[in-house]
Amino acid sequence: MKESGTKEKLLAFFEENKGAYFSGEEIAERLSVSRTAVWKAVNSLRSEGYEIDAVQNKGYCLSASTDILSAQGIRKYLKPVCSFLELEVLPVAESTNVLLKERAGAGAKEGHVILANTQTGGRGRLGRSFYSPADTGIYMSLLLRPQGYCPDQAVRLTTMAAVAACEAIEEVSGKNAQIKWVNDVYIDYKKVSGILTEAAFSLEDNGLDYIVVGIGINAYPPKEGFPPEVEQIANTVFRTRQSDGKNHLAAAFLNRFMGYYAARDNMDYAKEYRARSLVIGKKIRVISPAGQREGLALDVDEECRLLVQYGDGSRETLSSGEISIRFS
Ligand code: BTN
Repeated sequence: MKESGTKEKLLAFFEENKGAYFSGEEIAERLSVSRTAVWKAVNSLRSEGYEIDAVQNKGYCLSASTDILSAQGIRKYLKPVCSFLELEVLPVAESTNVLLKERAGAGAKEGHVILANTQTGGRGRLGRSFYSPADTGIYMSLLLRPQGYCPDQAVRLTTMAAVAACEAIEEVSGKNAQIKWVNDVYIDYKKVSGILTEAAFSLEDNGLDYIVVGIGINAYPPKEGFPPEVEQIANTVFRTRQSDGKNHLAAAFLNRFMGYYAARDNMDYAKEYRARSLVIGKKIRVISPAGQREGLALDVDEECRLLVQYGDGSRETLSSGEISIRFS
C-alpha cells in the first residue's frame, strides 16, 4: 500500500490514534477530504481486515488489538535515522529479497524496504527455503548502497542485523534473544529469526553495487503450526496477538539496524553480539563443503568471528560459514 491517497491517510490517522473514537466529520476535516471519502476509505480498510468500530454519536475507532503490517503502522515507530526509508508493504511476494534485487537492478535507492505479509518462495541461507506463512511473521528486505565498503565491512552487515534483531525482540517482547553464530536468532534455544544478506557487484569496476539485507522473524505461532521438519526447533516472539506486535517489531529492527549502519566503522555492536552468543564454550560441528568437523567454540572475537578448537588441538577462526549445535 502506498502512503498517499485517502485510504492511506486515514490508515496513518487511525494508526496514530488507535483505540480512540473520532466522528466522520472530524476525520474529514483533519484529512481535508469529504465525509463520503472517509466512509469509502473506512469500508475499504475493513475489506482488508482492519477492525474499525462505528458507534453512533462517537464515530469511528480502529481497534487497539489490530496488528496488520503496514507502512503507516511501522512509520509511527520509526526514529529520525529511518526517516529516509521508503516502505513498500505487500500482501504477498515470492521472496522479498528476490523482488528487492529486481528493484535494485532497476535503480531503486538506498533505503528501499520491502515487507510482505507472506512469501510463497521465501529463501534461507545455503539454498534452503524459509517458511513464511501469512499474518504471523515479518518478512522484510532492506536495500543498502554503501559507498567505499571493503568485503569485511559488507560481511559485518549480517552480524549487525543479528544484533539489531535481538535488540528489537527484547525491546518489544521483553524476552532475551540470543545468536547462534553466525546470524540465527534464538529464544529459549529455538530459532525465531533468520537473516539472508545478498550482495551484488558492479561488472564495470568490480566494486560493491548494492546489498540486500533480508530478515524473517516468526512473530506469532502459525495458524497451521510449523511444518514437522522445523516444529521442534522453531519458536515465536509472541505466544498471543499483541497490539502492533508486528509493526512495532519491524520498526524496532529498522531503528536499531540503521543506527548501527549510520555509525559505520563503530564496532560497538560487536560487544552486543558476543554478549548474546549461544555458542561460546559449546561443542559444535563445523559444516563446510569439505565435510563436517567436531570442535569446541572457544570465543567470538571483536569482528564477530568464531574461534574454534578441533579435537586434534588445531584452531581456526571462521568469519562465515555454518555450524550445528545440540542444546540438549
Ligand atoms: C535463514 O534462516 O536461513 C535465513 C532466512 C531469511 C529469510 C528472509 S524473509 C525476508 C527475506 N526474503 C527471503 O526470501 N528471505 C529473507
